[in-house]
Amino acid sequence: MSKPRILVARAVFPETLARLEQHFEVEHNQADQVWSKQDLAARLRGKAGAFTTGTERIDAEVLAACPELKVCANMAVGYNNFDVPAMTARKVLATNTPDVLTETTADFGFALLMATARRVTESEHYLRAGKWTKWSYDMFAGAEVHGSTLGILGMGRIGQGIAKRGAHGFGMDVIYHNRSRLSPDLEAACKARYVSKEELLETADHLVLVLPYSAESHHTIGAAELAQMKPTATLVNIARGGIVDDGALAAALRDRRIAAAGLDVFEGEPKVHPDLLTVPNVVLTPHIASATVQTRRAMADLAADNLIGFLVNGRPLTPLNPEVLS
Ligand code: GLV
Repeated sequence: MSKPRILVARAVFPETLARLEQHFEVEHNQADQVWSKQDLAARLRGKAGAFTTGTERIDAEVLAACPELKVCANMAVGYNNFDVPAMTARKVLATNTPDVLTETTADFGFALLMATARRVTESEHYLRAGKWTKWSYDMFAGAEVHGSTLGILGMGRIGQGIAKRGAHGFGMDVIYHNRSRLSPDLEAACKARYVSKEELLETADHLVLVLPYSAESHHTIGAAELAQMKPTATLVNIARGGIVDDGALAAALRDRRIAAAGLDVFEGEPKVHPDLLTVPNVVLTPHIASATVQTRRAMADLAADNLIGFLVNGRPLTPLNPEVLS
């Protein structure tokens, strides 16, 4: 019997590819080209499965061009690149990679918070530029992290990981806002207190965004919300570009309406709003929150397991629209 045909849409670990090749006839993209939507659809034609990353948009138009497609396995926990209702309507299974990246991503959220509050990259640039000629009492004085108030918007697995780091490691007072309140047990484990979005914005010394992107969460933080924050506050976005209005944020940073921001994700990335590149009080990283070798391997393995699980054994591990299976 011939093997099912799949497309691996971006470069992956050679070991992942070798494993997939044991089960499938694979068209790969080890040259790591970022294809246009038309190119992606053309390559998906005749394939039963796709190994995707957050950069491939799978929507009604792409699906209409690929009637043989049965499953798309995203190597990411976020899946706003998938139109899941459109996939469900066409009986295409969607999968993502939850859990395996939670702690690594929470570590990075905390690293970005620390780097932003304590002005790590700004001071390094100063040193590298040869500007450090003497020590002075207020040089790169930043904001206190330990003992301050940590606000978290979006309290899923990663938000809870950040809350635990803040509460248990840094003695922070943790407040959060989420669509639904955590159970008392989870709140106790995170030492986190549920507050309104307004109280969160007004009270947090450091506000970390970890909510999923959707039409509803577009520009959750814009000029009005930034105006509600303390002028001494730090904002960290490790969620998705588009949750923050980057233009409004750049203006708030320039005018010191908030103290600083740390951003791992951007509206329209890999493009970055030009105004963000001109303000010193922002730490910018290229969407690397889950990027450790171990975690990226675990994500690739889980995406591959989902393809093999579904196309070979009929049992995907982490389906997003399990109704397709029935
Ligand atoms: C990364 O952003 C992910 O969603 O896994």
